Amino acid sequence: MTATKGLEGIVAATTSVSSIVDGVLTYRGYDIDDLADHATFEEVIYLLWYGKLPSHSELIQLKAELSASAAVPAPVIDILKLVPRNTTPMAVLRTAVSSLAIYDPEAEDMSPEANYRKAARLQAQIPTIVAAYARLRNQDDPISPKEGASIAENFLYMLTGSEPDAVAIKALDKALVLHADHELNASTFASRVTVATLSDIYSGVTSAIGTLKGPLHGGANEGVMAMLEEIGSIDQIDDYVRGKLERREKLMGFGHRVYKGGDPRAKHLQRMSYELGKRTENLKWYDMSVKIEGLVFGLKGLRPNVDFYSASVYTILGIPRDLFTPIFAISRCSGWTAHILEQYENNRIIRPRAEYVGKADQKYVPVDYR
Ligand code: CMC
Repeated sequence: MTATKGLEGIVAATTSVSSIVDGVLTYRGYDIDDLADHATFEEVIYLLWYGKLPSHSELIQLKAELSASAAVPAPVIDILKLVPRNTTPMAVLRTAVSSLAIYDPEAEDMSPEANYRKAARLQAQIPTIVAAYARLRNQDDPISPKEGASIAENFLYMLTGSEPDAVAIKALDKALVLHADHELNASTFASRVTVATLSDIYSGVTSAIGTLKGPLHGGANEGVMAMLEEIGSIDQIDDYVRGKLERREKLMGFGHRVYKGGDPRAKHLQRMSYELGKRTENLKWYDMSVKIEGLVFGLKGLRPNVDFYSASVYTILGIPRDLFTPIFAISRCSGWTAHILEQYENNRIIRPRAEYVGKADQKYVPVDYR
């Protein structure tokens, strides 16, 4: 038995939810470029869960279900009020999503119908939790979800308390489409491992949130913005990037396990970063990002991934840096739950082997003689 570090190249599951073939990402057979240009996030949620794009009436029904489920149980809001104010939003989200199960009477109901209903509740309530904590930590009261609004509109509304403009809603909606699913990424794999023991969907999504939080996965978008702020200005880029690479440190938002010729999602976010920056006459972060991209490619041959330009997009939308990864979770919840539902449909426990590299033939010695 020989281990493959990081499971690189290992095919660990079959899935009909999404695929990456020759650098092309598809959700249920639809190219991400097509979806990013035309679909709304709610259409993508339906597509991921049900395997087809919704008809008009199916979309209206899904939106109504999400809207009706968006309020979070009061005891979960009470938990958010108890959290120390300096806790990172991802840690809060992990705890809050776990606690949702306690207040859901269907939490242990493993029927497919109940699991779809719970997927909808998770999808609808995660944005409400993120926005509520963002307000509570600033001593502001949480804002109740607005009936009939899309997830993107509702999130911005619950975060700021004012009606978001159409450009901001569209930009966030597109970012949600782009992050919704990504084959067997680390957090999706974690969610599938959890539910393959026949544990419940809340446990699966809680595992996924804990996995997404790390800087090598979803946490990278916050790392990109921290890097841009640390560099500070375009003339400091050269020294900073060369220094990082010489010290063999990772630059957040670059590289990918699967894409070697570039992440197909990055160009959409780059375009958004430019358009939003131009509109607000603040191209500083965009210009810095473009310069970093060129330098890193020239020096190391690495290309930006989905997290690189999303950092400047969210910043221009006025979103605090530590909410970037929770926004990733708002989007990826659709993919996690689609994979969880797929796993339940054709389950076998996921239990690989490990190559043992520790000591052998050890003999027990009583504690007094050690
Ligand atoms: N900065 C500097 N060097 C890098 C980077 C980077 N961001 N990414 C890869 N490398 C180098 C790495 O040092 C190694 O070089 P060498 O062969 O000279 O030792 C080589 O490229 C291979 O890297 P690796 O870490 O073995 O690659 P991996 O497939 O195990 O990791 C990765 C993939 C995405 C974790 C990694 O590229 C990385 O840490 N990137 C920075 C974090 C990041 O942006 N993560 C978001 C990933 S995409 C969205 C998501 O899934 O969340």
